[in-house]
Amino acid sequence: MTHFLDINKTDATALRSMIDTAQAMKSARNGRPKGAPDDEQPLAGHMVALIFEKPSTRTRVSFDVGVRQMGGETMVLSGTDMQLGHGETIADTARVLSRYVDLIMIRTFEEQTLLEMAEHATVPVINGLTNRSHPCQIMADILTFEEHRGPIKGRKVVWSGDGNNVFASFAHAAGQFGFDLTFTGPPPLDPEMVFVEEARAKGANVVIERDPVKAVQGADLVVTDTWVSMHDPQSARERRHNQLRPYQVNTALMAHAKPDALFMHCLPAHRDDEATSEVMDGPHSVIFDEAENRLHAQKAVMRWCLGV
Ligand code: CP
Ligand code: NVA
Repeated sequence: MTHFLDINKTDATALRSMIDTAQAMKSARNGRPKGAPDDEQPLAGHMVALIFEKPSTRTRVSFDVGVRQMGGETMVLSGTDMQLGHGETIADTARVLSRYVDLIMIRTFEEQTLLEMAEHATVPVINGLTNRSHPCQIMADILTFEEHRGPIKGRKVVWSGDGNNVFASFAHAAGQFGFDLTFTGPPPLDPEMVFVEEARAKGANVVIERDPVKAVQGADLVVTDTWVSMHDPQSARERRHNQLRPYQVNTALMAHAKPDALFMHCLPAHRDDEATSEVMDGPHSVIFDEAENRLHAQKAVMRWCLGV
């Protein structure tokens, strides 16, 4: 079964070909209406289940539109409305859904839920975000970087803020795509070291630098994300804000990156917390290309999973 569970679990050659396919499919649409079908209809006759145990705007809409552009159909399922949310096991849910649909995308809390779904499903499963990773987002981010600046291999990416699930997928990608990655943030919010060590073992230069100004020097790409993720307790909000305020991405910080550095944020953002509106709407920012590219990158991921 060809699941897309994480960037570090997917063959590097396959990842590269997904980015290239995404780019080609995006170009082939050539400005046609968003609802128009692609010339190729590789998902014709396919049904895709999109399961959400957490809120979503981009993942939900981009997967739904992407499937339809490729000729398939979707059903969007809320975890709380399913028996999954009322005690049916993940394994049974996976076995049952596999009898109805051709592909499952799930956004959930615990990574274990995703892994159990994949273990028991007889159709491919895609990770649409867990507390530990967000691989579809980083596929879109790589597509976006390369559209604007060419190959990401050997370039310097700097993450400023919380060492969260989105950072983890950047660390996975650093190993697989061969870019340098610097994390800058306060020690209590460091990423899990396993992500850093694994990327280093694959040859990536991963650095932890407490001083955000030093960290962004020479950066080709500066990235941040919300200071309080969906799985973080709201009670931690004030403490996190105090810890993370020195790591806000603002114009003064961006001035230390390369003059042509890009700025990314997976969105949703809390404007003027983790990044200022001046940066988000400024000349370095590619945040809306990044959001659009969720669509194109995931279309390539789905084609790879289904072998179509
Ligand atoms: N970036 C991202 O995954 O956005 P949503 O939570 O809106 O899906
Ligand atoms: N780190 C964020 C990403 C949202 C797309 C979260 O998990 O809430």
